[in-house]
Amino acid sequence: MGQILVTGGAGYIGAHTVKRLASAGYETVVLDNLSTGHRDFARWGGFIQGDVTDAAALDMVFGTRQIDAVVHFAAASQVGESVTDPLFYYQNNVQGAVTLLAAMRRHQVDTLVFSSTCAVYGPPFDGLLTEDHPIGPISPYAHTKRMIEQILEDCSRAYGLRALCLRYFNAAGADPEGEVGERHLPETHLIPLVLQTALGQRECLQIMGDDYATPDGTAIRDYIHVQDLAEAHVLALAHLRSGGASGALNLGNGQGHSVRQVVEAARAVTGLDIPVRLAPRRAGDSPRLVGDATRARAILGWRTQFADIREIISTAWAWHRLEPHGPRPF
Ligand SMILES: NC(=O)c1ccc[n+]([C@@H]2O[C@H](COP(=O)([O-])OP(=O)(O)OC[C@H]3O[C@@H](n4cnc5c(N)ncnc54)[C@H](O)[C@@H]3O)[C@@H](O)[C@H]2O)c1
Repeated sequence: MGQILVTGGAGYIGAHTVKRLASAGYETVVLDNLSTGHRDFARWGGFIQGDVTDAAALDMVFGTRQIDAVVHFAAASQVGESVTDPLFYYQNNVQGAVTLLAAMRRHQVDTLVFSSTCAVYGPPFDGLLTEDHPIGPISPYAHTKRMIEQILEDCSRAYGLRALCLRYFNAAGADPEGEVGERHLPETHLIPLVLQTALGQRECLQIMGDDYATPDGTAIRDYIHVQDLAEAHVLALAHLRSGGASGALNLGNGQGHSVRQVVEAARAVTGLDIPVRLAPRRAGDSPRLVGDATRARAILGWRTQFADIREIISTAWAWHRLEPHGPRPF
């Protein structure tokens, strides 16, 4: 068996997945430009600092190693930033994916697992979103992900590429063994922001909008543990390598929690006060995104270990309390 190339493997979800792949017996090599990733997160296999938009760097990786399959996490993924700088998102994400696919084709690598997102779905947002729900990305970030899904579909048809698009809902939590966790600089994800506020590293948590059409007015998301996501990637690779079909699969818990409910759960887990302040809605955000992962369970045999929001927050709390790379002073 050759190696698995993991682009973006020095990032949050990538690092957890590389650790899980290593424990499942895979040999991995991470390609990451460290734009938002961390060198100390890439420690369970090989590491190459490089960019997926760089065809020569990709030729070097594919030409000098026997790569059997690619797991493609590398992307810029801040919704707000994508609204203010869309060209960077189209260049980094879409051009990066096209450059990677062309290199895979040159080097006869035909298996890919792709990090997509629930943000590809459009309204209506009530109920559980299945993979057949209407597509309707709002932000440029989500548009890049949907475009890449389309490119993968076209390449599957034309070149026999075998690709699974995993549409994550909101990744959360940390490695239960505490070896890796969430470190986005700047941080835009709710649970780390809440916990950094609990730790006094932030003055207060800004609630971005309380006028959504939800029971308490704050946005509702489906939080899925990063370890459960990592497991799904191992299963997705096994599925593709054993001849399973290409397509798109939701990865979520099927339970929605509002911002206020997450803050309450974090207060319960930490036993600390978490001051909040209301702020305007963030551009590009949907009111509610909760997923139906029946298809992933049926096709991959995926079972989640962490369904309870408090349990998810507890693993994140264990990480953030010891994390030396908290936010810069406010
Ligand atoms: N975190 C979530 O809740 C979530 C939800 C849905 C989808 N996703 C997707 O999952 C993937 C991983 O997300 P994450 O939260 O771990 O983000 P992250 O920022 O921690 O990881 C992304 C990694 O990709 C690297 N990278 C970015 N552009 C690159 C390039 N051009 N070449 C090489 N490396 C590059 C970064 O340095 C980083 O290590 C992303 O594609 C993201 O869009 C994340």
